[in-house]
Amino acid sequence: MGRVQDKVVFITGAARGQGRAHAVRLAAEGADIVAVDLCGDIATNGYPLASEADLDETVREVEKLGRRVVARKADVRDPAALKAAVAEGVAGLGRLDAVVAQAGIAPLGPRTAQAFLDAVTVDFNGVVHAVEAALPHLPDGASIVATGSIAALTPASVDNPANGPGGLGYSFAKRQVAAFVHDLATVLLARRIRVNAVHPTNVDTDMLNNDLMYRSFRPDLENPTREDALSSFPATTGFGIPYVEAKDVSDMVLFLVSDESRYVTGMQMRVDAGGYVRRRPQLPAF
Ligand SMILES: NC(=O)c1ccc[n+]([C@@H]2O[C@H](COP(=O)([O-])OP(=O)(O)OC[C@H]3O[C@@H](n4cnc5c(N)ncnc54)[C@H](O)[C@@H]3O)[C@@H](O)[C@H]2O)c1
Repeated sequence: MGRVQDKVVFITGAARGQGRAHAVRLAAEGADIVAVDLCGDIATNGYPLASEADLDETVREVEKLGRRVVARKADVRDPAALKAAVAEGVAGLGRLDAVVAQAGIAPLGPRTAQAFLDAVTVDFNGVVHAVEAALPHLPDGASIVATGSIAALTPASVDNPANGPGGLGYSFAKRQVAAFVHDLATVLLARRIRVNAVHPTNVDTDMLNNDLMYRSFRPDLENPTREDALSSFPATTGFGIPYVEAKDVSDMVLFLVSDESRYVTGMQMRVDAGGYVRRRPQLPAF
């Protein structure tokens, strides 16, 4: 028996990065997956998002583990598209036990209000839409997980004015994710539906590994490379490491989806190698 045997989990942003890692980790522990991704780009986001081929690869990796997957191309900014994807997932897989709302962008490039708005509509509204789509299908005792960021909890990180409106939007959205998780947990107490946030530090995915992020970590250089940025990445953690791996976040997601966390709700779970306590040593956890 796996730790999430025969549960069905809806994951947004599942084509690559952390989303794919969560799908594969959960499938390895017995879950079937409803996988959704935009599979396209967003103009203000200065690095490419996942492709249909990426989503196909997630499907292949889940099926290789002997589990079932319903994969759909859908934009988390579009509530109707998410509702349709979830409905098809439930029709195909028979039930829904958890949602992992984690599709995200970090549009640090353009100095436009649109970059702010895109960050908010994907990184915050997208979480609300995913929950809205899943809730009618979730039984009592289900699990809702939303991915925030250490940027939600520590000021002057991604929201540094040097990162422009998109960076401000990213931090704003992630703070709202943290607050939303808290409030939704209170609303769903009577049904014992657990609602928790996961806040990673740097994760070694495409969101970290792109020129805009390198520039954000090395504003002193005009065209910093990954090698240049690597020396600054550890500033975000407390352990002196540059980043965590996607699978480190998956382990937390697995715990929160599993019944091992049946009495855990309203939590802000940091997977940050001590980045928060290093930057906010005097403050209690949010
Ligand atoms: N990588 C990091 O350093 C880091 C740190 C803290 C938090 N996070 C958060 O982790 C989550 C996952 O990011 P990642 O690191 O795997 O990066 P990633 O860029 O590899 O993955 C993000 C995924 O979301 C998808 N996506 C983007 N916009 C979408 C939309 N409108 N609709 C549907 N899908 C969409 C992308 O196509 C991609 O597959 C995000 O919420 C991100 O903000 C990342």
